[in-house]
Amino acid sequence: MQKNILVFDSGLGGLTVLLHLQKLLPHERFLYVADNAHMPYGKFSTDQVKCFVVESIRRVVARMPIKMIVFACNTATNCASTTVREMFGVPVVCIEPALKLGAGYTCVVAFITHTTYMQKKYQELRAKYPPIAECASALLAEWIEKYIQTGDIEYHTRILQTLQPYQVYQPDAVVLGCTHYPLIKKIFQKEFPNACLLDGGLGTAKQAVRVLERVEKKTKGRGKVTFVCTKGWFYKQTLKKFYKRIKKEL
Ligand code: DGL
Repeated sequence: MQKNILVFDSGLGGLTVLLHLQKLLPHERFLYVADNAHMPYGKFSTDQVKCFVVESIRRVVARMPIKMIVFACNTATNCASTTVREMFGVPVVCIEPALKLGAGYTCVVAFITHTTYMQKKYQELRAKYPPIAECASALLAEWIEKYIQTGDIEYHTRILQTLQPYQVYQPDAVVLGCTHYPLIKKIFQKEFPNACLLDGGLGTAKQAVRVLERVEKKTKGRGKVTFVCTKGWFYKQTLKKFYKRIKKEL
């Protein structure tokens, strides 16, 4: 039986990483797991996020054969990747905020979640590749989900109010350090017209390919994606709908 690659996020954000993965690994079976019961992770503590991630993955692993886990969630990477690596005995590949890609730019503003900002891992990364400013938001990811699902102007306003204070820096690069943020790339680009938008999605997918090549031969199976969520059947439909939409747009 062909084993799955589990791709994990709190919600819709990781779909951007899933699409990169599917392009590079078209014959693989993917299991996209969204912990929508606890979205947004940005408002929880490290230990809480760690429990949510481990529990979500544990439930899936108990039912389906998994050969690799890809963290398509920067917050989960920072809180839970070490524990997940130790627990599940399969290779784990993790996205992280793309500060390293910003090294060649003169003025970098990083957008991350508040929980990511609080992590030692992130603090080490920013010490090496310091951005000029950081927006560590607990709720931006949630507003993005709500905005793209409903088109509600209220959420659009909140998004703009979060982004606009950083325009004073006139950045030449903006790091989208949460996988939900590339979902509104157009808004980021409009608010920061001279900035190159950087995110770790493609790099993570490439790393997954390298790791897979080390452990097994190329799969010849039929590619597939299955969606799993931690709360409510309705969200599964939302995932499917946005997967199709994002596939066309990104
Ligand atoms: N998409 C996730 C990330 O990359 C988490 C967003 C959230 O749930 O707060 O950080």
